[in-house]
This record gives sequence, structure tokens and C-alpha cells, in this order.
Amino acid sequence: MSNTSKKRYTITSALPYANGPLHIGHLAGAYIPGDIFVRFLRLNNKDVVYVCGSDEHGAAITIRAKKEGITPREIIDKYNKQIKESFEEFGISFDIYHRTSEPIHHQLSQEFFLNLYEKGEFVEKFSEQYYDEEYNQFLADRYIVGTCPNCKSEGAYGDQCEKCGTSLSPTDLINPVSTLSGKTPILRKTKHWYLPLDKYQPWLEQWLINEKKDVLKSNVFGQCQSWLKSGLHPRSMTRDLDWGVDVPLAEAEGKKLYVWLDAPIGYISATKQWALDTGKNWEDYWKKQEDPADDSCLIHFIGKDNIVFHCIIFPAILHAHGEYILPENVPANEFLNLEGDKLSTSRNHAVWLHEYLEEFPGKQDELRYVLTSILPETSDAEFTWKDFQARINNELVAILGNFVNRVMVLSHKYFDGKILMGSPLNEVDTTVFAELAKAPAGIEASIQQYRFREAMAQFIQVARIGNKYLADEEPWKVIKNDEERVKTVLFVAAQIVANLAVLAQPFLPKSATKLFEMLNLPATDWAQAGLADMLTDGHQLGEVQLLFEKVTDEQVAFQLEKLEVSKASNIAANAKVDPIKENITFDDFVKMDIRVGTIIEAEKVAKTKKLLKLTIDTGLDKRTVVSGIAEFFKPEEIVGKQVSILVNLEPREIKGIQSQGMILMAEDADGRLDFVNPNTSVKAGSTIR
Ligand code: 2FM
Ligand code: ZN
Repeated sequence: MSNTSKKRYTITSALPYANGPLHIGHLAGAYIPGDIFVRFLRLNNKDVVYVCGSDEHGAAITIRAKKEGITPREIIDKYNKQIKESFEEFGISFDIYHRTSEPIHHQLSQEFFLNLYEKGEFVEKFSEQYYDEEYNQFLADRYIVGTCPNCKSEGAYGDQCEKCGTSLSPTDLINPVSTLSGKTPILRKTKHWYLPLDKYQPWLEQWLINEKKDVLKSNVFGQCQSWLKSGLHPRSMTRDLDWGVDVPLAEAEGKKLYVWLDAPIGYISATKQWALDTGKNWEDYWKKQEDPADDSCLIHFIGKDNIVFHCIIFPAILHAHGEYILPENVPANEFLNLEGDKLSTSRNHAVWLHEYLEEFPGKQDELRYVLTSILPETSDAEFTWKDFQARINNELVAILGNFVNRVMVLSHKYFDGKILMGSPLNEVDTTVFAELAKAPAGIEASIQQYRFREAMAQFIQVARIGNKYLADEEPWKVIKNDEERVKTVLFVAAQIVANLAVLAQPFLPKSATKLFEMLNLPATDWAQAGLADMLTDGHQLGEVQLLFEKVTDEQVAFQLEKLEVSKASNIAANAKVDPIKENITFDDFVKMDIRVGTIIEAEKVAKTKKLLKLTIDTGLDKRTVVSGIAEFFKPEEIVGKQVSILVNLEPREIKGIQSQGMILMAEDADGRLDFVNPNTSVKAGSTIR
């Protein structure tokens, strides 16, 4: 197959925004598939570089910084570290995990921009863009929300409606609102540099429709076709922002490169850094070679929301530059859902990798296994904790783990861990070897077609063959009267284990290492797979190790409960106002005696966090009221403040203090409190009605 017979490979997985932790959707989208593919190439001794890194520019970062009340730099440092650690833990085997905030990346992005600028590729245009007058800044697409003109749902962003997936311009939104000030933005004139995608449309059509039709996965090709069909428009490659790569033109001071110009260049700058670190030549992996047959094979692993950028915009940029290779393929995955709902960072509906690692320590391969088995390769897929449990318990533990364990334990029990050839192979044995010999080619074909689910199923099928073989041959019974046959059965079974070790390597790296340790064999490359003599007569096995453990019902219940808790807190947070109470009569109302009072003294109630003891001049008397406002107001800040006070509430004792009445406060959905007081100073004792 052509895609794994090339001389050199440049493999990328989407650069995640360093604006939050990773969840299972990330792994299932771009990283597990990329990692399996790369591990497979390396096992076949290919020259491959696998690059990734943090995408550290764009509104995704600045919005998060604003939300967390820290600087963009603090945000990217925090999440870059966390994301990098998660990838390492899950064995995603990048050759480099780089950062787009590095100077080498800024420099390369600017060179790219200048190259296109000097060739006159950009169209310079003045346009009217949304501007927030309160914040004195132009608004990035993600800073504007409004109603989607397509599906009419609220909360669509200036660049995309996440409900219906339509790509938008800010001016397409109905009732646009700035997320900074919450006000309607105004339109203001600004100059930008546009990439004329319309000019490249004929070239893109030729490349995508004629050359890539049978290469791209159908979900990817379909999206490309629909973009081309609706006609491409010039897209601005610069932005009015204060975070990102500076536009390298004197007249563009204060402007930054569009994040989707610089981010994919991040793949190249990461390769450059890797080459510097390892003494390689980065151009071998990115530039067109004298003989096109020597060009590196470039493959981008991404999620479906990134298709247009990797199949249309970045290729157009590479084409306009002229010296670079184009992607051979862009095997994008669809989305992974969780327990019947979309994965969502903002709603905390996710399985976060850093939390999984704490809750299932050492169980990285288990998650890799489950996610690979359900990858959203052709359509959206669904992760449920029950299914996670079933796949681990019924497949990893009951089939793979059980088979390996029986071979190891029996070999140690009967022959001190020695693999011995006893009586000659019979027909059952040779049939098993024949099946074993066929397995690698099947797995290989699936990997080459980016069908990793299918590849994984074929891998586990090999363990099934082993399990069935042991169940049929029953060495634990035969040992009573035919030791020589048992030697052979365990010889054959151990060859299956050795095959599993080789075949596991692209999918389950930690388990593959354990298997090789148990077998007391050095890890071998893919060429060994299918062989019936990986272990020679007399080979000494290593110690038995535990491969997989069952997932308990309690663990599943705990995870489901966690999701329920975030659902409940979302509902509470989204409930902007309390529901209206039952009607009361006018008589009920006039029973309440509410007055304007003035706080004349305030102090914290000892040993409490929330309570303040207030002395209030009600105009009628000076009385003590205990109030739960200490988290929001300091005593010294509120002395002299006027408040509304219910004076005829029956006195109550709170923390040993008689509280005579209650001050009225406004409480929002987040539980924040504020005073309800007169607009101007009013005489204490005035009635509120
Ligand atoms: O969608 C995202 O998370 C982007 N940060 C992906 C960038 S991929 C590449 F082009 F850098
Ligand atoms: Zn929509």
C-alpha cells in the first residue's frame, strides 16, 4: 500500500490550544490514531518524524486568560505543561512537543507571511469590523456572540456556530454582542491582508477533487467538496489583537497574524526545532525534493472541526509559497460523545485525562484500548462508562489478559518457565500457526487505511485464537498423562503470546513492554509478527506480571455520579433567575414591615466564615442583626451604608447572638450578594412598601 511504502514520513497531530486540559475526545480525535500510525511506521523502520505542540495564540487563549483572571502567558505555561504531561502519560510518542510561543516559530511564521507578501499574494482590504467601545478594541471573531443566521440558535460565535457547524463571519450574526462588555459592538474601519482563496479555487479543485478523491476518507472529502461548492472567499490572515505573532510590516503595527495562519506553520517550526536538537535536516521533511519520489509523505491527524484549515487553507498557503510539499492525507475523525451528550469543556461534561490518571492509575492502555475500539472514524461515536467496563472486563481481562496469564502460569508450574518443544506439531497446531501468520497483514491493511478500530479488533482476535487453543487442548488435563504434548501446547501458546507482544506495540505500548518482559525477549519490529519461532526450544520465560484488572461497578458508579454532579451544577448555574413563587394576597404582603436602616457598627462573628454582627439604626431603635454577608463585605466597608431591613421578623438566636430582623440582599445565580438600598440617602425608619 502506498501510504506506508514511502521513504520518509512527516506526521502531525493537531496542535491543541493551551487553554484547558485534554479530555478523551482529544485522544480519540487526533492523537491515538496518529500515535498508532507512527508506532506502526517506526516498527517498520521508516524514517518518520511525529510532531505536535501547543497552539498558544488566538482568542482561545485570551478568552481563557480573562476567565481565569490571569495573563495569556500564565495560561499557556499552565496548560502547556499539563497537556504535555497527559500526552506523555498516555504514550503519545511525539518526537517533539513544541510551542507556538517559541521565537523560532514566530520567526518562521513571519517569514511565511513575508514570502507571500513579497510575491503579492495577499489582497489588502479595508473593512468594517466590530469594535467594543467600552474596551477600546477590535473584537476577535470569538469575542462576538449572537444568533446563528442558519439554525437560529443563540450563542453562535463570530466564526462558527457550534450547534449547526456553519462557518460564519461576525457580521453574519443576528444581534451581535461583545463578550467583553456585553454591549452591542460598533463597526469600525481597519486594514487587513487577505489570502485570496477564490483565486486558488481552481487549483484546489484540481488537487482535491481530481487527485485526492479516492485518497481522502469520505467524511473528509465530503466536507472539502461542500466548501468548494459554496465557493471560496478571501480570508484575512491578520487580526487586530494584542496576543499572537506580530505582522512583520511597519504599517501593521499592533496587528497579529491570524492564528490559523501561524498554527499549522507550528508543525514546521516544531520539525525545525527537532532537527536542530537531533542533527537532522528539517527541509527533508517539508520541502519538495529534486526527485518528487523523494518527497516526505505528509499526513495530518485532526478532528473534523479542523478539516477546512488542513485541506483548504494550509494547502493554499503551502501552494502559494511554492517550496513545500502538500499533505498526502488528512485522516480526520468525527466527534466522540460522552454518555449521550456532546463532550463539553464549558459544561464540564468530559472525562479529563489528568483526572482519569488519578482515578485509574497505571491504566493508560485500558483507555487507549477502549477509545481505539470506538474511534469516531466514519461517524460520531459514543463513550459510556458501562461500555468502558465491559470492554476491559470482557475483552482485555477475559481474553487477552487471561490467555497470557494461563500460558505464563502453566509454563512456570510445569516446566519452571521453560519453553520446550515436546511431541511433534499436530494439525491443530499448524492451523493455529497458519492463522497467526495471516494476522499481521490484516492489521497492517487496516492501519494503512486508517481503520484503527478494525485493526484493534483483529489484534484481539489473535488473543481469541490463543484462548480457544488452550480451551480445546486443555493442557491442565493432558498433563496427567502426556507431558510431551503439554510441552508442545505451551510452546505453541507461547509463540502466540510472542506474536501478541509484537502486534500490541502500535496500540498498547505499556502492555507490549510488559509482554516482552514476561517473555524475556527484547522488543522486536513488525517483521517478526506472524512467525512461529520467536521463542526457541529451551527459552526461559520471565516472571508473571499482571496485565489488566477488572473495572468494578463502584468505579463506574463513581464516574457516572461525577457527571451527574456537573450536570446538576450546570443546571443551577444556567438558571439565571429563581422560578416565581406562588401568589400571595395583599394582606400577606402588608404583614411585612420593611424599613430603611443605617448600619452603624459591623464586626465578624467569631469562628464563622459567613456571619457579620451588625448594629442597625432602624429609625425606631438600634438593634442587632446577624447577617450571612461576610464573604462579600468587610465590616469596615459597610458602616454607614443604608439597607432594607425586615423589622418584624421574629427574633432568632444565631451563634449565641439575638438577631432582631433581617437585612434584605439581592442574590445572583452564583450566590453573590449585594445590598438592596435606596438610591439616595433616606431617613432611617422610612417604610418600604
Ligand atoms: O482546534 C484546535 O484545537 C486548534 N488549536 C488546532 C490547530 S491544528 C494546527 F493547525 F495547528
Ligand atoms: Zn447554527
